[in-house]
Amino acid sequence: MVQDVDLNKVVRQHLEMEGFFAGFAVRGKPRCEGSSSSESVASEPVAVSGSSCVDTPRSEVQMPRRTTPADVVKELEAIAAEARECRKCGLGGTRTNAVPGEGSPKTRILFVGEAPGADEDAQGRPFVGRAGQLLDKIIEACGLKREDVFIANILKCRPPENRDPRPDEVVSCLPFLQRQIEILNPEVIVALGAHAARTLLNTNQGIGQLRGEFQEYCNGIGRPPIKLIATYHPAYLLRSYTPDNRRRVWEDMKKVLVELGLPVPERGKGA
Ligand code: URA
Repeated sequence: MVQDVDLNKVVRQHLEMEGFFAGFAVRGKPRCEGSSSSESVASEPVAVSGSSCVDTPRSEVQMPRRTTPADVVKELEAIAAEARECRKCGLGGTRTNAVPGEGSPKTRILFVGEAPGADEDAQGRPFVGRAGQLLDKIIEACGLKREDVFIANILKCRPPENRDPRPDEVVSCLPFLQRQIEILNPEVIVALGAHAARTLLNTNQGIGQLRGEFQEYCNGIGRPPIKLIATYHPAYLLRSYTPDNRRRVWEDMKKVLVELGLPVPERGKGA
């Protein structure tokens, strides 16, 4: 618990500082009219919920998004290439492969996990181990395919022995995910597990408190927040595969489907 408190504090302080100083610096062009270089995306101020997030409704965003699907793919590839070269924290020296994330550039749903495990580290792809197989089933139970959504993690590299991410690792790595969120602009983020939910919502609350209702991910100053639902991590679900836990995950996913106006299959098949 002590580590969680420190982690959130360190991440929040870092991001507030970044957001504050970015507001004063001329670091790249405004992002619109198809301009989506990694520099311009990366350089926009970042805010976290509960701090300097300006809650702008989508209709009031000043700059209309004219980013084309090709721009999104290009930017996602640029982010992935940077993540693969990254040495900002010690994990750059211990990983086999970075795991930037993968999926549809047109996704309406972004799933965010904690960090790659051994299978993901070996393949450079997110959620390909046992937890990933369960995540695939959850996605399929929603009437979707893995290729329809985007899957990423808070950390792009595997912490040795799958230990919890350290604050400096999250601080170094989070900008990759923030840029992915910004360019993908999903309608809903599904935070898988306490670590992803706490980091994205900048809170120390437990997953039991965070799940079950939509929360808001602050997508930076001047941009509207994105709806976020937290649910149990598939690895936790595997360990505690009880009817109650499965029902809770399904309830969370049903909320996502309703929010997106997608048909809700009668009951979750597979998961
Ligand atoms: N667990 C995660 O949080 N992410 C993965 O990619 C795999 C397992």
